[in-house]
This record gives sequence, structure tokens and C-alpha cells, in this order.
Amino acid sequence: MSKTILNKSILNILFFTVIFTSCSKEEETLQEENIINITEPKTPLKEATKTFFAGMAVRANRLEDGSEYDKIIKREYESITAEYEMKMNVILPSKGNYNWSNADKIVDYAIANGLNVHGHALIWHESTPEWLENYSGTDEEFEQEIKEYISTVLERYREKVTSWDVINEGVNNSGGTLRNTVFRQRMGDDYMAKCLQFARDADPNVMLFYNDYGMCTNISKQNKVFDLVADWKNRNIPIDGIGYQMHISYLKPIRQQIQIATDRAIASELLLHYSELDIRTNPNNDITVLSEERAIAQKLKYKEVVQIYNSIPTTNQYALTIWGMKDDDSWLLPHHNNDNEWPLLYDKSFDFKKAHTGFLEGLN
Ligand code: XIL
Repeated sequence: MSKTILNKSILNILFFTVIFTSCSKEEETLQEENIINITEPKTPLKEATKTFFAGMAVRANRLEDGSEYDKIIKREYESITAEYEMKMNVILPSKGNYNWSNADKIVDYAIANGLNVHGHALIWHESTPEWLENYSGTDEEFEQEIKEYISTVLERYREKVTSWDVINEGVNNSGGTLRNTVFRQRMGDDYMAKCLQFARDADPNVMLFYNDYGMCTNISKQNKVFDLVADWKNRNIPIDGIGYQMHISYLKPIRQQIQIATDRAIASELLLHYSELDIRTNPNNDITVLSEERAIAQKLKYKEVVQIYNSIPTTNQYALTIWGMKDDDSWLLPHHNNDNEWPLLYDKSFDFKKAHTGFLEGLN
């Protein structure tokens, strides 16, 4: 599915006109500047990705007009996802008190700049507000709160947000079982289908995704997710796509694992979103500066991932979203308490890394 068809026929929203510039091979050749970085490539990512959106996770307070961050988004990307400001604990921190300020800022920025928005995430056990985690009402009332939340969010962003991760990380890491979240406890084993249906009822056109991590390496999780998808399809429960988070490292998953998992999504006839791509350079904590060797290994992994995604049928493509702009902003630093990590396409000074070249080379 081409990006233009996605917008015109399926989304029915004319966000922007993509103008493809033609570049000769010579023009596209990138000149290496130092061991880690490169000079500015001639072709922005969004022009190089002809059949899917080049996306990035953003933070509202970085979107100031004219900032380096803003300029890079405008040059490189055509789809954005809120890194955390469209999650439930931010939007609905207490019962009845919706806080739209940062979510609106992100969506308004996208509209002003002709960017696609992928919504993330309606139901995630790690972003459940405390008032719902410790809900004092009945199970029926709990379900009503969830239905109202999903409906309210989807109605507010109707025709502004193209797609949502309705369920994030609903399957356990072992045993191929459902994660025992408060949603499952209160709404039953079929809570995901209920949430998908609430979303579809609120917006007939928005695309609905199930999103998870470890999808290439964790086979019991992979099996369970595709069992769920098959079951939803059998019962006409709305599901349009699947998100593979792709928080990976330069070492693994290996190409074959990514390919097999990707083929499986294609066979399920869903859209596939590589939704949170970052590639760790230091999974074994054996370096304290990003070495040339490791920067090249990371570049090759970016190339491999992009190559695989670029090769799937265009009807299954949606977007490839990078989880943040520059290395020192990455969630991996505070999350894993490790300052020695460089997972993204730009270094802390907003300079292009070799990883960026890897992304472009994956498209050739
Ligand atoms: C992370 C964000 O990057 C952090 O800023 C936030 O504090 C916690 O969540 N899987 C997901 C994302 O689906 O929502 C997570 O994002 C990273 C792991």
C-alpha cells in the first residue's frame, strides 16, 4: 500500500502531498565525516521511504518551532507517536479529569505540519492511573470507565489520529498466557476484544493495532498473539494491524528471526508497524564510548531491519517508527540505568550517526 493510497483511500484524510524527488546514485552517496557521524544526507528519510511512513516518537515540550528537534522532524519524518503523553495516566490521571494539554500539543503540531499521528497507547498495564488500578467500584462500573475513556479519546482525535495501539503488551513473556492486568481481572479474558470493539464503535475509520515487544524472539508470545488475532478475526472483532516494538540490539534478534516473525504478520493479512525501533549498541555493557566498530555494527542492523520491512508487500506496510530522536533522550538510559547506550539515529549534538546511513541503505 503506497503512502498516498493509505491517505486517500483508506484514511480518507488528505494530510499532505508527497513529492518524490529523484536523486542519482551519486547524489545519494554519503560522505563519512568521522568514526561515528556522517554529514547531512541528501535524501531525508521520509522521501527515501516511498511506501511507508518514516515515524518518530516525540515529546510535546521539544516541539518548539525553530528548535533543532523541530527542524529534524520536519525534514526527516512524516508520522509521529507520543512517547508517553497520550497514555492513560497522563490523559486521565484522576476520575473524570481529562488532561489534554500535551496530547493536543502533539496532535496540533502534526496537523500544522502535515504529519500522520499513530496513537499510543489506550490500554497498557504500565500506564494505568492509580485510581483505576485500585478501583473501588464494581467490575461493570470499571468496564464502563474503560469504554468511556476509549470513546472520549477516539472521538476527540477522530480524523486527526490515524491509528491507535489499543492494547499494548497484553501477553506474558512466558507460557503464552494473558498478562494478568487489572483490565483482565475486571473485564475478563476477552477484555482486549471488548476494547477493540469500543474503539471501533467510537470511530469507524481509525486503524486499530495490537502492539508488543519480543515478537521476534519469544515464540510462545508470538504464538499467543497470533492465536488472539485469529480468534478476533473469526469473531469479526475489529483489528487492522500489529505492532512489533523492535527494541532490539546489534546482536539479536538475528535476521532470520525478524524475517520469520515478519512473514507471520504478513500471513495474518494485517498491517505491520515496526513501532518503537531502537538498536542497542551496548547490551553486554562492555563499552564506555561508542566505538567505530560498534557504530558500524549498529548501522548494519538498522540496514537489515529496514531492508526486511521495505521488502514486505506494500499492502501490509504502515510505518517504521524510531523510538526517539537522539541518543541521550532515549528511554533506555533512565529505564535501564545505563548511561553507556547509543540506540538512535542522532547523537546528543543532533549529528547524524552511521545508523542513519544504515536506515537509508536499507531502502536501496
Ligand atoms: C516508554 C517511554 O519511552 C518512556 O518515556 C516512558 O516513561 C515509559 O514508556 N514499550 C512501550 C512504550 O510500549 O510505551 C515505552 O515507552 C517503551 C516500551
